[in-house]
Amino acid sequence: MGPNGKKTIQTFAQRKTDRERLALVTAYDYPMARLADEADVDGILVGDTLGMVVLGYDTTLPVTMDEMLHHVKAVTRARPRALVIADLPFLSYQAGDDEGVRNAGRMLKEGGADVVKIEGGERVVPLVRRLVSAGIPVMGHLGMTPQSVRQFGSFRLQGKSPDDAGRLLDEARMLAEAGCFAIVLELIPAELAAQITAAIPVPTIGIGAGPDCDGEVQVINDLLGLFEWFVPRHTRQYAQLAQTAQTALKQYVDDVRAGRFPAEENTFHAPELAEAGVVGGASGKEPRSTK
Ligand code: KIV
Repeated sequence: MGPNGKKTIQTFAQRKTDRERLALVTAYDYPMARLADEADVDGILVGDTLGMVVLGYDTTLPVTMDEMLHHVKAVTRARPRALVIADLPFLSYQAGDDEGVRNAGRMLKEGGADVVKIEGGERVVPLVRRLVSAGIPVMGHLGMTPQSVRQFGSFRLQGKSPDDAGRLLDEARMLAEAGCFAIVLELIPAELAAQITAAIPVPTIGIGAGPDCDGEVQVINDLLGLFEWFVPRHTRQYAQLAQTAQTALKQYVDDVRAGRFPAEENTFHAPELAEAGVVGGASGKEPRSTK
């Protein structure tokens, strides 16, 4: 751990050694980052799921560097003790490693993130090496990598065939060897995730990858029941905030329409205005009364 209890990539490594699981969530703004940090999460991923659970896109593909940076900055303004992981969005690193290094650097330099995450196996190994040698820690991401959804055809389980499973195991080894400090395993069979976890020296962080990874990451909107329109099987709703919000908002609408809100305690008065004749009798208009 760094000064003031700040979690670092060394914290992640130590947890693997000590067999203490890591708990990560996504967050995309200041209040959620504060809430997550106060719950003592180990890592906050500003994921490009931003596009799907906040910005209303169907996939993560349209998310831009500017959109990501905007939200990374909001999260880092919360000064979390948790490690802040900035996701590199689609086409911010696929078109060339120079561009990848520059964009990853922006996440740290402008966004204030601690580390970056990139999707992919063998093809991103040279970029991982360059980033690590530039002092930018990298989290890898294998399995169902959403930026490749058009290649996969849909968001579905990866690594089901022996060939695919073998390839994912090889790629996990390559990423670890290239310097990734941790690797997300998304939507793969639990047995394969357990095998990868045992085979590599860096922590695996699962999502839809069973109970044997070194840690878990979940989308905060799913955990809190904030995104009701699609609930993935790999998540668990610890609250139903969308329903709570809807009930509250309906009450607000009813109260405004019935004149119950704003009430006297929500209202400001300036007697000087009446005394000066600015409001009230002089204008011919009485202030509306509150009920
Ligand atoms: O973008 C994201 O939130 C992610 C997680 C689902 C791992 O990549």
